[in-house]
Amino acid sequence: MKRDLSRRDVVKMAGVASAAVAPYVQKVRAANDQVQYGFIGTGVRGTYLLGHLSKMDSGRCLAVCDINQAALDKGAGVIGSNPQKFKDYRELLGAQNIDAVLIAVPLYMHFPVTRDALLAGKHVFCEKSLVFKPEEVHALRALVAERPKQILQVGLQRRYSKFYQAVQDMVQKGVLGDVKHMYAQWHRNPGWTMKGDPKTNRLANWRLFREYSGGLAAELASHQIDVADRMLGASPDFVMGLGEQNTMHDGRDINDNIQLIFRYPGGKKLLYSAICTSSHLPLLNATRTEMAELIMGTEGAVHITVGDDTHPATAMWFPEPVKTSTTKAGEKKENIKAGATMVTAAGGKALPILLPKDQITGNEGFFDRELKFARRWLYTKGVMVPEEDKNPVDTELESFLQNCRDGKRPLADVEVGLRDSTAVILSNLCMDEERKAYFSEIEKMGIPKA
Ligand SMILES: NC(=O)c1ccc[n+]([C@@H]2O[C@H](COP(=O)([O-])OP(=O)(O)OC[C@H]3O[C@@H](n4cnc5c(N)ncnc54)[C@H](O)[C@@H]3O)[C@@H](O)[C@H]2O)c1
Repeated sequence: MKRDLSRRDVVKMAGVASAAVAPYVQKVRAANDQVQYGFIGTGVRGTYLLGHLSKMDSGRCLAVCDINQAALDKGAGVIGSNPQKFKDYRELLGAQNIDAVLIAVPLYMHFPVTRDALLAGKHVFCEKSLVFKPEEVHALRALVAERPKQILQVGLQRRYSKFYQAVQDMVQKGVLGDVKHMYAQWHRNPGWTMKGDPKTNRLANWRLFREYSGGLAAELASHQIDVADRMLGASPDFVMGLGEQNTMHDGRDINDNIQLIFRYPGGKKLLYSAICTSSHLPLLNATRTEMAELIMGTEGAVHITVGDDTHPATAMWFPEPVKTSTTKAGEKKENIKAGATMVTAAGGKALPILLPKDQITGNEGFFDRELKFARRWLYTKGVMVPEEDKNPVDTELESFLQNCRDGKRPLADVEVGLRDSTAVILSNLCMDEERKAYFSEIEKMGIPKA
């Protein structure tokens, strides 16, 4: 069959193909093959995760728990499996028919609930940031080491995004050259606001109080520091920064803006910013707001963000532009290095990062191959941008249920979670004490003096 279709044909074909996709019929799994789980903390994140879990047949929610009745009822309604309702999480953990628990309580409760769940023999998925205090870093590491058959996964969903995996692969294969610098931001306007009276409503506003929360570092930066650890291939040596409360004078005791510099081995750096006075994102052609990461290498840069349910993960790749200069004779010379008299500053063209679904393997049928050509052509014209076909939150949850069955170590495992929590703890320490905080300090923190 003729392969070189006209552009109009391929565009038409892309439209027809997406309209012609047959409805996905979910195969119902036998009940004994399903992971039976409980869910602890059915607040905003908990009900969001339950909404995603409600579409998965690899697990069944038998119980939900929350200290707040309205949240408990909401969580039970969202999952829709008529789960048993508990107000005390220890009672839920006592249920013998529950294999696994998912935990989305406020940060200060992560460790006690995770510890008790592991001691009760359950597999655990706990939201980020995994733990709150230095002593919990050491205690959780020891507890997990004693229980190698139990899964512990942390809710860092970027670990499960195909885009982030593809970019990490590009970095490791040297496609971006020498990657020495990253910038990451999570800018909101106005950011978190106080609900009700800060004196009587402390727990409902847990994020805003140091007693329960690690503030912006724990809630936002934790995701992006983990991205930097992956792209820069190490944990930081030290962090320094400035955190202040300049705008939100509403009774909170956390900072409302933070700027951090993480220094990695070999002089690599992550520059981090979280503010609450502008949501502008100067990355991804400003098509998104708030949060993204910029990975900078000598051969190219990548803008990447995980997005959300309505704005899926996306990334753009900017190969480093070839530098040209004009000689006295008026000829163009390429690759002029330092010392050139005139260097053009034209920006490089963004290229799409192709996911496996768009890569031409040679094994696809005619229709599938033409569809891939069509999509790739549309990407290069900027008509369509490649987007992840699945929210990484779905992938992380499916993967957790799968790992509960096959016993495989999660991508976002205990060490990933503890490194991330260490970064959060030390970020807050460096800002509070106005000094460099070395990551090696964690080894001595939270250890009782002999
Ligand atoms: N991965 C992500 O992108 C992401 C996004 C948002 C939140 N989170 C994390 O999810 C967690 C929850 O955040 P949220 O926004 O849902 O907060 P939230 O306040 O909306 O929900 C927390 C819920 O936990 C309940 N709770 C408190 N103590 C409890 C206890 N002892 N036993 C049972 N329930 C208890 C509260 O009543 C509340 O309903 C946090 O750790 C947060 O960092 C992760």
